[in-house]
Amino acid sequence: MTLSIRKLHESLGGEIDGVDLSRPLDIDTRSEIQAAWETHGVLVFRNQDIGDTEHVAFSRHFGDLEVLPETDRTDDTMPEIFILSNVGADGKIMPVESEPVTFNTLTWFWHTDSCYRAIPSKGAILHGIEVVKGGGGETRFANMREALAEMPSDLRSRIEGLEGQHSWAWMRSHRNLPPMKAEEAAKVPPVQHKLVRNHRNRSQSLYISPLYMERIVGWDEEETRSLVEELTEWAAQDRFVYEHAWQQHDVVMWDNTWTMHIVLPYDPGSQRRVMHRTAIAGVEAVL
Ligand SMILES: [Fe+2]
Repeated sequence: MTLSIRKLHESLGGEIDGVDLSRPLDIDTRSEIQAAWETHGVLVFRNQDIGDTEHVAFSRHFGDLEVLPETDRTDDTMPEIFILSNVGADGKIMPVESEPVTFNTLTWFWHTDSCYRAIPSKGAILHGIEVVKGGGGETRFANMREALAEMPSDLRSRIEGLEGQHSWAWMRSHRNLPPMKAEEAAKVPPVQHKLVRNHRNRSQSLYISPLYMERIVGWDEEETRSLVEELTEWAAQDRFVYEHAWQQHDVVMWDNTWTMHIVLPYDPGSQRRVMHRTAIAGVEAVL
């Protein structure tokens, strides 16, 4: 064992010491990180002043990488890097009503990444290049295994067998973003996933992603929103949630299959926030 792991919250999250992500990973360290990721769901690596090339190289140890359906959200030279930033190429904060800034504020809603894919992402790795100063911008992660395991039996019985419809295009229309280009929308048609997710290791988790959940299959809008809100409130309780307060050059790696997350609001007109993300492609559908 070369890494040390400090638990960050009773439910999930671990801070890893003893690894430099700018250097190639040896196979033993990779295995230790993989095991810690499975156990803790969210891993924090502090003081990792890495470039995009190193970020992508580290991410590839854990699977194939996704490329976002929208080409203007990614770096031309490195499409695996998804840029979440309110700072323009000129180094200045962009107007709050600009599309990239509006897009960033979508993360202020609970979600799990890539739920709009038939095989959603396994996980994501986010590098804090410029982090919010003066409060706001923290990321909260919820443990959806525990949220399901501890759910009151009446609520649990109401969600058994239900499927949620997740849609990137619906999310955009619902959040007043311009419609997608047809060729981009064609890559991500709406998909349906069970609310009670079965994992290969026989564990189960609650699988919801309120930002993208267009409807519960067979339900109307009002019934859908009411249940999704009830489930979100249940899962977002402090006992299931680790809140990450960002420091510059934190790298945070999370499992999208049994956690969901949200960014706490900040003032995008005055507080700079520049984050680069990779997403590790899923290997199994929501069972
Ligand atoms: Fe996200």
